[in-house]
Amino acid sequence: MANRICFEPSRTLMEFRLLPGFTSEKNSIDKISLKTKLASTKNSTNNSTINLNIPVVSAAMQAVSGVDLSLSLAKEGGLSFIYCSQPIDKQKEMIQKIKAHKAGFVTPKTVSPQMKIEELHKLTIDLGFATFPVVDDKDNTFLGLVGKNDFDISIHANYKVIDRMIAKDKLKIGMNVTSLEEAKAIILEGHQHVLPIVDSKLKLKYLVFRKDINNHLNYPLEVTDSYSRSLVGAAISTHDYKDRAPELISAGVDLLTIDSSDGHSFYQRDTLEWLKNNFPKIPVVAGNIVTYEGFQFLVNAGAKAIKVGMGSGSICITQEQKGTGRGLATAVIEAVRARDDYFKSSGEYIPIIADGGITSDRDIIIALALGADVVMMGRYFARTAESPTETVVINNRVMKPYWGEGSFKARNWREARYHQANFAEGVEGFVEYAGKLKDTLRETISKIKSAMSSAGVSSIEELHTQANLEVMSALSIREGQVHDIYMPQ
Ligand code: IMP
Repeated sequence: MANRICFEPSRTLMEFRLLPGFTSEKNSIDKISLKTKLASTKNSTNNSTINLNIPVVSAAMQAVSGVDLSLSLAKEGGLSFIYCSQPIDKQKEMIQKIKAHKAGFVTPKTVSPQMKIEELHKLTIDLGFATFPVVDDKDNTFLGLVGKNDFDISIHANYKVIDRMIAKDKLKIGMNVTSLEEAKAIILEGHQHVLPIVDSKLKLKYLVFRKDINNHLNYPLEVTDSYSRSLVGAAISTHDYKDRAPELISAGVDLLTIDSSDGHSFYQRDTLEWLKNNFPKIPVVAGNIVTYEGFQFLVNAGAKAIKVGMGSGSICITQEQKGTGRGLATAVIEAVRARDDYFKSSGEYIPIIADGGITSDRDIIIALALGADVVMMGRYFARTAESPTETVVINNRVMKPYWGEGSFKARNWREARYHQANFAEGVEGFVEYAGKLKDTLRETISKIKSAMSSAGVSSIEELHTQANLEVMSALSIREGQVHDIYMPQ
């Protein structure tokens, strides 16, 4: 006899609806905040969290989370997890590229004071940059700025940069400036189109361009680290984490996630323990799990956020292949129960990321109302212009390729290195192209806020504690769809 046979059916998100509540003035859409917790950073000295400004992350998948998507999503207030199904140096390079992006702060290409103007002229053409900071060859101290307006190649070709640059004492400089507002205040006071940012030893750190300031101020929800660099996560596997994690951490990654369809295992416990001992400041998201016990197990091993869901992803065939999994709604409900119990007993809040099969805006709303702190999506982002694939036209429809990390296509890269199961857990297909991430996501965010306003809540915390949900019958779901009218195409 099995240990437990449950006759209560496993529930999916699409079976639930959020009931409306009283909408007061403080629940108007413009007052709603979607700020949420992504991971705990609690240790012996602080009890803090990594936060996002919208409750959305992109899945660690080859067809989803590349550099462009990661930068665009961070600007909107969410975060990407860069996939680990690639060589370590390639994944590290992606993290470095993302981290080189500052919210308005640019890591500049510098030139030597001894460079010939002829060479500088060539650089301005090759790189398309109009301005270069000049730094001391030995210690990187900032000396001045030189740009294409400071020389005429027919006259100055044999001069050196030091002869034509504008020296630092004639410039406004931002010392130890970290916020864009501060940089804006200095730059708008002066006449320069660019502000060099230096540290207290006058070593050059960044440039802030006048033309970029307003662009970046247009993204007030952008999530950044304490140096104003984009926030980014990365996946690791339980096979090579001892080699991979240190490289990603040295590249500046903000948090890691262990990539596995079944996280309730000694593999994840060992990985978590090793990371906790060697890199105690880097939060690790573990999973996926779908049970109360799975949540407890990973949190006790040191996980700082938990990914929930098994067998529900749009490209996933785990349930079909192995008969293993659970409806995502039931899995979230169980994990939320475990999270709340753990919080009561320990005082530490371990966020929950609902993952797999969240294919509509409605699903996002229900997952959050059931208690998830964040949703992770693959298909949703694979459709956008910023995902790493090219569009194709199939039957006159513009599509993008999308494949599972457990499909043979994604697993090929490492076949030579790791033992692989001889069956796939994911498929390859196409998804309808959705255009720019910003437009798609902003529409989704409007719908989430509108639903929260109807429910009479104005924050994710209020949604978690005050939402009223109901399971729908098959007929009531049918009633909620368009019916009994003719709509010519
Ligand atoms: P989607 O948002 O429904 O497309 O699901 C994305 C999620 O599916 C990912 O975040 C993973 O948890 C999961 N996943 C990714 N690749 C595979 C696979 O090949 N098989 C099963 N699940 C997968």
